[in-house]
Amino acid sequence: ELSPIDKAKFVAAKRAADFVEDGMRVGLGTGSTAAWLVRCLGEMVRDEGLKFKGVPTSTRTAELAREVGIEVISLDEAKWLDLTIDGADEFDTDLNLIKGGGGALLQEKIVATASDQMVVITDAGKEVETLGAFPLPVEVIPFGWQTTHALIEETLISMDVLGRSATLRMNGDRPYITDEGNHILDLHLQRIGNPRQLALVMNQMPGVVENGLFIDICDTVVIGYGDGRVEVRD
Ligand code: A5P
Repeated sequence: ELSPIDKAKFVAAKRAADFVEDGMRVGLGTGSTAAWLVRCLGEMVRDEGLKFKGVPTSTRTAELAREVGIEVISLDEAKWLDLTIDGADEFDTDLNLIKGGGGALLQEKIVATASDQMVVITDAGKEVETLGAFPLPVEVIPFGWQTTHALIEETLISMDVLGRSATLRMNGDRPYITDEGNHILDLHLQRIGNPRQLALVMNQMPGVVENGLFIDICDTVVIGYGDGRVEVRD
């Protein structure tokens, strides 16, 4: 028996799997909700003869996709995608997102941006009025990361945010390393008044590779509830 939260993630993933049609090229997200999706799609390949190609957004997702029998190709092989389905850490009423809690924001943003459509799958608990309670992940180059860290904290003073501190994400007693060999700074902002502006300012800094704000990228959110209900918003 699934816990209510897993049930919510599962029903959202299952509904979103129906967006995938024969012949499509599909971006496969990262995280626990996206893992449900990959398993659902694997079953559809096996049981219903669904034929599609998947572009994973992390080594973790690539491994799982192969394991469940999905044909995996790289983004460069696919060039352009019909659809990406991914989880999120927060979404607001404009369907803007915070992503990167799972550390895969860079590949996720590249893949989602290369897609005709992005569908987010989530449980209802991730809906917020204003983004920022979830710490905003920012991927930074290891070279001089402490300098980049200081620059980010200094810059936050002039931004419309409540909190100002950034912490280096760790993996045990070592800095976390992304699939692209970078580090992640988690920005504790509490409330992001102007996410569009913050996203632009962050990506303007030398040393910053990408930030976890997805602005105007997501088209549809599929929200699962613990009792099995599903709501589709676009
Ligand atoms: C991965 O980098 C993130 O962007 C995920 O999409 C996010 O952390 C959602 O993960 P869960 O589905 O496990 O909540």
